[in-house]
Amino acid sequence: MKITTETICPEYTRYHCENHQGFSVDVLNLGGIIQRITLPDGTDVVLGYDQPEEYLHNTFYFGATIGPYANRIQGASFQVGGETYPLAKNNGEHCLHSGPNGLHQKNFLGEIRWDRLVLSQEITQEECGFPGVLQVEIHYILGEDNSLTLEYHAKSSEDTYVNLTNHSYFNLDGVAESPCCLSHVMTLHADEFTQNNQENIPTGVISSVAETPLDFRNPKTIGQDIRDGFLASPKGYDHNYILHQNKENKEIARVQGTKTTMVVRTNSPCVQFYTGNFITPHLGKSGVSYGENSGFCLETGVYPDGMHQSDFPSPLLKAGDLWQYQTSFHFL
Ligand code: GLA
Repeated sequence: MKITTETICPEYTRYHCENHQGFSVDVLNLGGIIQRITLPDGTDVVLGYDQPEEYLHNTFYFGATIGPYANRIQGASFQVGGETYPLAKNNGEHCLHSGPNGLHQKNFLGEIRWDRLVLSQEITQEECGFPGVLQVEIHYILGEDNSLTLEYHAKSSEDTYVNLTNHSYFNLDGVAESPCCLSHVMTLHADEFTQNNQENIPTGVISSVAETPLDFRNPKTIGQDIRDGFLASPKGYDHNYILHQNKENKEIARVQGTKTTMVVRTNSPCVQFYTGNFITPHLGKSGVSYGENSGFCLETGVYPDGMHQSDFPSPLLKAGDLWQYQTSFHFL
């Protein structure tokens, strides 16, 4: 793949990564944000903005790297080694996506290393409340098969909790062409999900998807059951699925739109499927209108709120150990 670097202004840089088929991905140093994923026919399949500044304080987290810990942390605090670590309350009494000063707001350092773009950054306790200093590297790798692989590498100076993900919203009919993703046909290879309470915090109960609208083991449109009473709160899909079979980057999901089919592979134990329920009407790239259900997210990672749930595997990362997962999005 070929990577070209564009300095937008002194703070912001865009990396344009392109393979020999004309498939390309634009990444900003701000938040490691995936600004565009462009198919060889020119169709852009992710929601976003034209200017980096528009991503500042973007409550939808379009395309951004989320960390140190994605999703909601109950009561906006946790304990490690008997110490309590308070976090920002940016979602009622809870902390969502690590608060306002998470990785999604940081300027990363970019480097072209061999065949890949590597963005690196560290985040400290002073900035976002998590213990010590977490060093993060995200590798963006394009395949000649029109795939984008994201590799996450993280190491902490102190014992801490880590859950890194990318928050891209996909619309496989083309974001400029279609305002809605509900006609996409999805298969999600997951038998179980983690139940949430009314505030979207896991209750600790793991349930079967069988006979619920969450069952995507056979292909169906994203919209087929989305108005089912079962999904009244949070008014659509915003659920964490468990990927039991998942050890060797197996296919976990396949989503078919009119312009492409996207196959997702990961070795993460979980994926949050979110249908953009909270997107308020506003303008995105090239003045296109976005709103509820304009795109969907498949946010791979570890168990949400895992530090508070004794029935979930512990997400503790010991000081000096390597946290490493990968996810690929392959466009057929
Ligand atoms: C995640 C959450 C959603 C929502 C979005 C951001 O996917 O699960 O509830 O907060 O981020 O808008």
